[in-house]
Amino acid sequence: MRNKKILITGGAGFIGSHVVRLFVNKYPEYDIFNLDKLTYAGNLENLKDIKNAPNYRFVKGDIVDAQFLNTLFKNYKFDAVIHLAAESHVDRSISEPLEFVMTNVIGTVNLLNAARAEWKDDSTKRFYHVSTDEVYGALGDSGMFTEETKYDPHSPYSASKASSDHFVRAYHDTYGLNVVISNCSNNYGSHHFPEKLIPLAINNIKHNKPVPVYGKGENVRDWLFVEDHAKAIDVIFHKAKSGDTYNVGGHNEWKNIDVINLLCKIMDKKLGRPAGESAKLITFVKDRAGHDLRYAIDSTKLQEELGWTPSLQFEEGLERTVDWYLSNEEWLRHVTSGEYMKYYDGQYNKR
Ligand code: NAD
Ligand code: TYD
Repeated sequence: MRNKKILITGGAGFIGSHVVRLFVNKYPEYDIFNLDKLTYAGNLENLKDIKNAPNYRFVKGDIVDAQFLNTLFKNYKFDAVIHLAAESHVDRSISEPLEFVMTNVIGTVNLLNAARAEWKDDSTKRFYHVSTDEVYGALGDSGMFTEETKYDPHSPYSASKASSDHFVRAYHDTYGLNVVISNCSNNYGSHHFPEKLIPLAINNIKHNKPVPVYGKGENVRDWLFVEDHAKAIDVIFHKAKSGDTYNVGGHNEWKNIDVINLLCKIMDKKLGRPAGESAKLITFVKDRAGHDLRYAIDSTKLQEELGWTPSLQFEEGLERTVDWYLSNEEWLRHVTSGEYMKYYDGQYNKR
Protein backbone atom coordinates (compact mmCIF):
# COMPACT_ATOMS: atom_id res chain seq x y z
CA MET A 1 0.00 0.00 0.00
CA ARG A 2 1.31 3.45 -0.85
CA ASN A 3 2.03 6.00 1.87
CA LYS A 4 -0.68 8.48 2.80
CA LYS A 5 0.21 11.88 1.33
CA ILE A 6 -0.58 14.87 3.51
CA LEU A 7 -0.27 18.47 2.39
CA ILE A 8 0.46 20.83 5.29
CA THR A 9 0.26 24.51 4.32
CA GLY A 10 2.17 27.19 6.24
CA GLY A 11 4.56 24.57 7.59
CA ALA A 12 7.48 27.01 7.70
CA GLY A 13 5.64 29.27 10.15
CA PHE A 14 5.35 29.09 13.92
CA ILE A 15 2.59 26.53 14.54
CA GLY A 16 2.96 24.86 11.13
CA SER A 17 6.60 23.96 11.81
CA HIS A 18 5.60 22.22 15.05
CA VAL A 19 2.82 20.32 13.24
CA VAL A 20 5.16 19.28 10.39
CA ARG A 21 7.81 18.09 12.87
CA LEU A 22 5.28 16.10 14.89
CA PHE A 23 3.79 14.40 11.82
CA VAL A 24 7.15 13.67 10.14
CA ASN A 25 8.55 12.08 13.31
CA LYS A 26 5.42 10.32 14.54
CA TYR A 27 4.15 8.97 11.22
CA PRO A 28 7.00 7.59 9.09
CA GLU A 29 4.27 5.92 7.00
CA TYR A 30 2.95 9.34 5.86
CA ASP A 31 4.56 11.50 3.18
CA ILE A 32 4.43 15.06 4.47
CA PHE A 33 4.46 17.90 1.94
CA ASN A 34 5.03 21.37 3.36
CA LEU A 35 3.65 24.10 1.08
CA ASP A 36 4.76 27.58 2.09
CA LYS A 37 5.30 30.92 0.37
CA LEU A 38 8.05 31.83 2.85
CA THR A 39 6.69 35.28 3.67
CA TYR A 40 8.48 37.31 6.36
CA ALA A 41 6.85 34.91 8.88
CA GLY A 42 7.97 31.67 7.23
CA ASN A 43 11.46 30.36 7.70
CA LEU A 44 12.92 26.99 6.71
CA GLU A 45 15.36 27.25 9.62
CA ASN A 46 12.32 26.32 11.72
CA LEU A 47 12.55 22.81 10.24
CA LYS A 48 16.28 22.28 9.85
CA ASP A 49 16.22 19.24 12.17
CA ILE A 50 13.87 17.28 9.87
CA LYS A 51 14.71 18.72 6.45
CA ASN A 52 16.40 15.50 5.28
CA ALA A 53 13.79 13.10 6.65
CA PRO A 54 12.78 10.60 3.94
CA ASN A 55 9.07 11.31 4.41
CA TYR A 56 9.37 15.13 4.22
CA ARG A 57 9.32 17.41 1.22
CA PHE A 58 9.16 21.21 0.94
CA VAL A 59 7.27 22.97 -1.87
CA LYS A 60 7.58 26.74 -2.23
CA GLY A 61 4.34 28.29 -3.46
CA ASP A 62 1.55 30.78 -2.92
CA ILE A 63 -1.98 29.61 -2.08
CA VAL A 64 -3.34 32.72 -3.79
CA ASP A 65 -2.17 31.18 -7.09
CA ALA A 66 -5.09 28.89 -8.06
CA GLN A 67 -3.40 27.54 -11.19
CA PHE A 68 -0.34 26.49 -9.22
CA LEU A 69 -2.51 24.73 -6.63
CA ASN A 70 -4.56 22.86 -9.23
CA THR A 71 -1.39 21.52 -10.84
CA LEU A 72 0.10 20.61 -7.47
CA PHE A 73 -2.99 18.61 -6.47
CA LYS A 74 -3.05 16.85 -9.86
CA ASN A 75 0.62 15.92 -9.66
CA TYR A 76 0.82 14.73 -6.09
CA LYS A 77 -2.61 13.18 -5.39
CA PHE A 78 -2.81 14.25 -1.76
CA ASP A 79 -4.99 12.27 0.62
CA ALA A 80 -5.51 15.14 3.06
CA VAL A 81 -4.80 18.81 3.68
CA ILE A 82 -3.96 20.43 7.01
CA HIS A 83 -4.27 24.12 6.25
CA LEU A 84 -2.34 26.58 8.42
CA ALA A 85 -0.94 29.07 5.87
CA ALA A 86 -2.21 32.52 6.75
CA GLU A 87 -1.36 36.10 7.48
CA SER A 88 -1.54 35.86 11.25
CA HIS A 89 -0.72 39.17 12.94
CA VAL A 90 -3.61 41.39 14.06
CA ASP A 91 -1.58 44.64 14.01
CA ARG A 92 -0.48 44.01 10.42
CA SER A 93 -4.09 43.30 9.46
CA ILE A 94 -5.04 46.75 10.70
CA SER A 95 -2.54 48.42 8.37
CA GLU A 96 -2.74 45.96 5.43
CA PRO A 97 -6.20 44.30 5.48
CA LEU A 98 -6.26 43.29 1.82
CA GLU A 99 -3.26 40.97 2.21
CA PHE A 100 -5.32 39.13 4.81
CA VAL A 101 -8.27 38.80 2.45
CA MET A 102 -6.00 37.50 -0.30
CA THR A 103 -4.17 34.81 1.67
CA ASN A 104 -6.71 33.91 4.33
CA VAL A 105 -9.91 34.05 2.29
CA ILE A 106 -8.98 33.69 -1.40
CA GLY A 107 -6.09 31.34 -0.57
CA THR A 108 -8.37 29.08 1.46
CA VAL A 109 -11.06 29.01 -1.25
CA ASN A 110 -8.38 28.21 -3.85
CA LEU A 111 -7.25 25.27 -1.73
CA LEU A 112 -10.82 24.05 -1.26
CA ASN A 113 -11.38 24.23 -5.04
CA ALA A 114 -8.15 22.39 -5.82
CA ALA A 115 -9.00 19.68 -3.28
CA ARG A 116 -12.56 19.29 -4.55
CA ALA A 117 -11.51 19.15 -8.20
CA GLU A 118 -9.10 16.32 -7.44
CA TRP A 119 -11.02 14.41 -4.78
CA LYS A 120 -14.46 14.56 -6.43
CA ASP A 121 -16.88 12.74 -4.06
CA ASP A 122 -14.23 10.74 -2.21
CA SER A 123 -15.19 11.32 1.41
CA THR A 124 -12.08 9.55 2.73
CA LYS A 125 -10.03 12.63 1.76
CA ARG A 126 -9.96 15.23 4.53
CA PHE A 127 -9.59 19.03 4.54
CA TYR A 128 -8.62 20.32 8.00
CA HIS A 129 -8.69 24.09 8.57
CA VAL A 130 -6.68 25.40 11.51
CA SER A 131 -8.38 28.53 12.82
CA THR A 132 -8.48 30.89 15.76
CA ASP A 133 -10.74 31.69 18.72
CA GLU A 134 -10.63 35.33 17.58
CA VAL A 135 -13.52 34.57 15.19
CA TYR A 136 -15.80 34.60 18.26
CA GLY A 137 -15.02 38.24 19.05
CA ALA A 138 -14.39 39.48 22.58
CA LEU A 139 -15.62 38.43 26.01
CA GLY A 140 -16.39 40.65 29.00
CA ASP A 141 -15.20 39.70 32.46
CA SER A 142 -16.95 36.32 32.47
CA GLY A 143 -17.90 33.44 30.16
CA MET A 144 -15.95 31.35 27.68
CA PHE A 145 -16.10 30.62 23.96
CA THR A 146 -17.71 27.27 23.15
CA GLU A 147 -18.21 25.67 19.74
CA GLU A 148 -21.74 27.17 19.78
CA THR A 149 -20.62 30.78 20.32
CA LYS A 150 -21.78 33.03 17.48
CA TYR A 151 -19.04 34.38 15.22
CA ASP A 152 -18.42 38.09 15.87
CA PRO A 153 -14.96 39.03 14.55
CA HIS A 154 -13.63 42.55 15.09
CA SER A 155 -10.19 42.84 13.48
CA PRO A 156 -9.48 42.41 9.77
CA TYR A 157 -7.44 39.32 10.78
CA SER A 158 -10.30 37.68 12.67
CA ALA A 159 -12.81 38.73 9.97
CA SER A 160 -10.65 36.99 7.34
CA LYS A 161 -10.35 33.83 9.47
CA ALA A 162 -14.10 33.83 10.17
CA SER A 163 -14.75 34.15 6.46
CA SER A 164 -12.43 31.25 5.65
CA ASP A 165 -14.11 29.11 8.34
CA HIS A 166 -17.49 29.85 6.73
CA PHE A 167 -16.18 28.84 3.30
CA VAL A 168 -14.81 25.57 4.68
CA ARG A 169 -18.19 24.78 6.28
CA ALA A 170 -19.99 25.82 3.09
CA TYR A 171 -17.92 23.31 1.08
CA HIS A 172 -18.99 20.61 3.52
CA ASP A 173 -22.67 21.58 3.44
CA THR A 174 -22.84 22.26 -0.30
CA TYR A 175 -20.46 19.74 -1.85
CA GLY A 176 -20.12 17.15 0.90
CA LEU A 177 -16.38 17.79 1.31
CA ASN A 178 -14.93 16.03 4.38
CA VAL A 179 -13.87 19.02 6.50
CA VAL A 180 -12.81 19.66 10.08
CA ILE A 181 -12.14 23.01 11.78
CA SER A 182 -10.42 23.80 15.05
CA ASN A 183 -10.39 27.19 16.76
CA CYS A 184 -7.46 27.67 19.09
CA SER A 185 -6.46 30.31 21.62
CA ASN A 186 -3.11 32.21 21.65
CA ASN A 187 -0.08 29.96 21.23
CA TYR A 188 3.41 30.50 22.62
CA GLY A 189 6.66 28.57 22.35
CA SER A 190 9.76 28.26 20.19
CA HIS A 191 10.02 29.58 16.60
CA HIS A 192 7.39 32.29 17.20
CA PHE A 193 8.03 35.34 15.02
CA PRO A 194 9.06 38.22 17.31
CA GLU A 195 6.25 40.57 16.30
CA LYS A 196 3.84 38.78 18.65
CA LEU A 197 3.68 39.73 22.33
CA ILE A 198 5.74 37.01 24.02
CA PRO A 199 8.68 36.64 21.60
CA LEU A 200 8.75 40.41 21.03
CA ALA A 201 9.01 41.00 24.78
CA ILE A 202 11.75 38.37 25.19
CA ASN A 203 13.75 39.87 22.34
CA ASN A 204 13.32 43.45 23.53
CA ILE A 205 14.16 42.63 27.14
CA LYS A 206 17.28 40.85 25.97
CA HIS A 207 18.38 43.91 23.98
CA ASN A 208 17.36 46.40 26.68
CA LYS A 209 14.71 47.90 24.44
CA PRO A 210 11.29 49.18 25.59
CA VAL A 211 8.62 46.49 25.90
CA PRO A 212 5.42 48.01 24.46
CA VAL A 213 2.26 47.17 26.41
CA TYR A 214 -0.91 48.30 24.65
CA GLY A 215 -3.33 50.39 26.71
CA LYS A 216 -3.18 49.45 30.38
CA GLY A 217 -2.16 45.84 29.78
CA GLU A 218 -5.57 44.72 31.09
CA ASN A 219 -6.50 42.62 28.03
CA VAL A 220 -6.70 38.91 28.72
CA ARG A 221 -5.42 36.11 26.49
CA ASP A 222 -5.69 32.34 27.06
CA TRP A 223 -2.20 30.94 26.38
CA LEU A 224 -1.47 27.44 25.09
CA PHE A 225 1.96 25.87 24.56
CA VAL A 226 2.40 25.39 20.81
CA GLU A 227 3.39 21.71 21.10
CA ASP A 228 0.10 21.05 22.90
CA HIS A 229 -1.71 22.69 19.98
CA ALA A 230 0.19 20.47 17.52
CA LYS A 231 -0.88 17.40 19.54
CA ALA A 232 -4.50 18.59 19.48
CA ILE A 233 -4.29 18.96 15.69
CA ASP A 234 -2.97 15.40 15.45
CA VAL A 235 -5.87 14.04 17.50
CA ILE A 236 -8.55 16.11 15.73
CA PHE A 237 -7.17 15.28 12.28
CA HIS A 238 -7.35 11.55 13.01
CA LYS A 239 -10.49 11.29 15.13
CA ALA A 240 -12.97 14.07 14.37
CA LYS A 241 -16.12 13.44 12.36
CA SER A 242 -16.54 15.24 9.05
CA GLY A 243 -18.11 18.67 9.50
CA ASP A 244 -17.12 18.90 13.15
CA THR A 245 -15.49 21.79 15.03
CA TYR A 246 -13.31 21.73 18.14
CA ASN A 247 -12.13 24.54 20.39
CA VAL A 248 -8.55 24.18 21.59
CA GLY A 249 -7.26 25.96 24.69
CA GLY A 250 -5.49 25.43 27.96
CA HIS A 251 -7.76 27.16 30.54
CA ASN A 252 -4.88 29.53 31.07
CA GLU A 253 -6.03 33.15 31.13
CA TRP A 254 -3.55 35.92 31.81
CA LYS A 255 -3.70 39.71 31.66
CA ASN A 256 -1.00 40.99 29.28
CA ILE A 257 0.71 42.98 32.02
CA ASP A 258 0.94 39.88 34.22
CA VAL A 259 2.49 37.88 31.37
CA ILE A 260 5.06 40.63 30.83
CA ASN A 261 5.87 40.91 34.53
CA LEU A 262 6.37 37.14 34.74
CA LEU A 263 8.59 37.23 31.66
CA CYS A 264 10.64 40.07 33.16
CA LYS A 265 11.17 37.99 36.31
CA ILE A 266 12.29 34.95 34.29
CA MET A 267 14.58 37.11 32.13
CA ASP A 268 16.21 38.76 35.18
CA LYS A 269 17.01 35.28 36.50
CA LYS A 270 18.30 33.91 33.17
CA LEU A 271 20.37 36.98 32.30
CA GLY A 272 21.73 37.40 35.84
CA ARG A 273 20.18 40.86 36.18
CA PRO A 274 19.13 42.34 39.55
CA ALA A 275 15.47 41.59 40.37
CA GLY A 276 13.21 44.27 38.88
CA GLU A 277 15.73 45.39 36.23
CA SER A 278 13.88 44.07 33.14
CA ALA A 279 10.52 45.41 34.36
CA LYS A 280 11.93 48.94 34.00
CA LEU A 281 11.65 48.40 30.23
CA ILE A 282 7.84 48.09 30.35
CA THR A 283 6.37 50.98 28.37
CA PHE A 284 2.64 51.62 28.13
CA VAL A 285 1.76 52.73 24.61
CA LYS A 286 -1.35 53.70 22.66
CA ASP A 287 -3.93 50.92 22.61
CA ARG A 288 -4.54 48.76 19.53
CA ALA A 289 -7.58 49.88 17.51
CA GLY A 290 -10.58 47.62 18.22
CA HIS A 291 -8.55 45.72 20.83
CA ASP A 292 -10.53 42.65 21.98
CA LEU A 293 -10.73 42.71 25.78
CA ARG A 294 -10.68 39.04 26.65
CA TYR A 295 -10.45 35.61 25.03
CA ALA A 296 -11.13 32.39 26.94
CA ILE A 297 -11.64 28.99 25.37
CA ASP A 298 -13.79 26.17 26.67
CA SER A 299 -12.14 23.02 25.28
CA THR A 300 -14.34 20.54 27.18
CA LYS A 301 -15.60 18.98 23.95
CA LEU A 302 -12.07 18.17 22.75
CA GLN A 303 -11.03 16.90 26.16
CA GLU A 304 -14.10 14.71 26.70
CA GLU A 305 -14.73 13.42 23.17
CA LEU A 306 -11.18 12.99 21.89
CA GLY A 307 -9.18 12.70 25.11
CA TRP A 308 -6.75 15.60 24.52
CA THR A 309 -5.36 17.53 27.49
CA PRO A 310 -2.72 20.26 27.63
CA SER A 311 0.53 18.95 29.09
CA LEU A 312 2.37 22.00 30.34
CA GLN A 313 1.85 24.66 33.01
CA PHE A 314 2.34 28.23 31.76
CA GLU A 315 5.28 29.09 34.04
CA GLU A 316 7.19 26.01 32.89
CA GLY A 317 6.32 26.57 29.24
CA LEU A 318 7.35 30.21 29.42
CA GLU A 319 10.68 29.32 31.00
CA ARG A 320 11.30 26.73 28.27
CA THR A 321 10.41 29.34 25.66
CA VAL A 322 12.83 31.89 27.13
CA ASP A 323 15.58 29.23 27.18
CA TRP A 324 14.95 28.49 23.51
CA TYR A 325 15.18 32.15 22.48
CA LEU A 326 18.31 32.74 24.54
CA SER A 327 20.06 29.77 22.96
CA ASN A 328 18.93 30.53 19.40
CA GLU A 329 20.60 33.88 18.80
CA GLU A 330 21.27 33.10 15.16
CA TRP A 331 17.61 32.33 14.42
CA LEU A 332 16.52 35.58 16.08
CA ARG A 333 19.14 37.60 14.21
CA HIS A 334 18.09 36.05 10.93
CA VAL A 335 14.34 36.49 11.22
CA THR A 336 14.66 40.05 12.50
CA SER A 337 17.10 41.17 9.81
CA GLY A 338 16.31 43.27 6.74
CA GLU A 339 12.67 43.89 5.96
CA TYR A 340 11.60 42.13 9.15
CA MET A 341 13.08 44.85 11.34
CA LYS A 342 10.15 47.15 10.81
CA TYR A 343 7.78 44.57 12.27
CA TYR A 344 9.52 43.33 15.33
CA ASP A 345 9.84 46.14 17.86
CA GLY A 346 6.28 47.37 18.12
CA GLN A 347 6.45 49.79 15.16
CA TYR A 348 2.89 48.99 14.11
CA ASN A 349 1.45 50.58 17.17
CA LYS A 350 3.54 53.71 16.76
CA ARG A 351 2.27 54.54 13.27
P1 NAD B 1 2.73 32.33 11.09
O1 NAD B 1 2.47 33.73 10.62
O2 NAD B 1 3.84 32.07 12.03
O3 NAD B 1 2.95 31.38 9.84
C1 NAD B 1 2.17 31.46 8.69
C2 NAD B 1 2.88 30.69 7.58
O4 NAD B 1 2.06 30.77 6.40
C3 NAD B 1 4.25 31.26 7.22
O5 NAD B 1 5.19 30.22 7.10
C4 NAD B 1 4.01 31.94 5.87
O6 NAD B 1 5.16 31.94 5.03
C5 NAD B 1 2.89 31.07 5.28
N1 NAD B 1 2.09 31.83 4.30
C6 NAD B 1 1.57 33.07 4.45
N2 NAD B 1 0.92 33.43 3.33
C7 NAD B 1 1.03 32.38 2.46
C8 NAD B 1 0.56 32.16 1.13
N3 NAD B 1 -0.14 33.09 0.47
N4 NAD B 1 0.83 30.97 0.54
C9 NAD B 1 1.55 30.01 1.20
N5 NAD B 1 2.03 30.20 2.44
C10 NAD B 1 1.77 31.36 3.07
O7 NAD B 1 1.33 31.85 11.70
P2 NAD B 1 1.06 30.88 12.92
O8 NAD B 1 1.02 31.68 14.18
O9 NAD B 1 1.93 29.70 12.83
O10 NAD B 1 -0.45 30.46 12.60
C11 NAD B 1 -0.72 29.33 11.76
C12 NAD B 1 -2.21 29.17 11.63
O11 NAD B 1 -2.80 28.98 12.91
C13 NAD B 1 -2.91 30.39 11.03
O12 NAD B 1 -3.91 29.95 10.16
C14 NAD B 1 -3.49 31.11 12.23
O13 NAD B 1 -4.64 31.83 11.87
C15 NAD B 1 -3.81 29.95 13.14
N6 NAD B 1 -3.77 30.25 14.59
C16 NAD B 1 -2.71 30.88 15.14
C17 NAD B 1 -2.69 31.12 16.52
C18 NAD B 1 -1.50 31.76 17.20
O14 NAD B 1 -1.56 32.00 18.41
N7 NAD B 1 -0.42 32.04 16.52
C19 NAD B 1 -3.76 30.69 17.32
C20 NAD B 1 -4.84 30.04 16.69
C21 NAD B 1 -4.83 29.81 15.33
P1 TYD C 1 -0.54 39.22 19.91
O1 TYD C 1 0.64 38.41 20.33
O2 TYD C 1 -0.40 40.17 18.76
O3 TYD C 1 -1.74 38.19 19.67
P2 TYD C 1 -3.32 38.50 19.42
O4 TYD C 1 -3.50 39.91 19.07
O5 TYD C 1 -3.63 37.59 18.27
O6 TYD C 1 -4.00 38.10 20.69
O7 TYD C 1 -1.03 40.07 21.15
C1 TYD C 1 -1.35 39.46 22.38
C2 TYD C 1 -1.87 40.53 23.32
O8 TYD C 1 -0.78 41.42 23.64
C3 TYD C 1 -2.93 41.41 22.69
O9 TYD C 1 -3.86 41.77 23.71
C4 TYD C 1 -2.18 42.65 22.23
C5 TYD C 1 -1.06 42.77 23.24
N1 TYD C 1 0.23 43.32 22.73
C6 TYD C 1 0.88 44.30 23.48
O10 TYD C 1 0.41 44.75 24.53
N2 TYD C 1 2.09 44.76 23.01
C7 TYD C 1 2.64 44.30 21.86
O11 TYD C 1 3.74 44.79 21.46
C8 TYD C 1 1.95 43.29 21.11
C9 TYD C 1 2.52 42.76 19.82
C10 TYD C 1 0.75 42.82 21.59
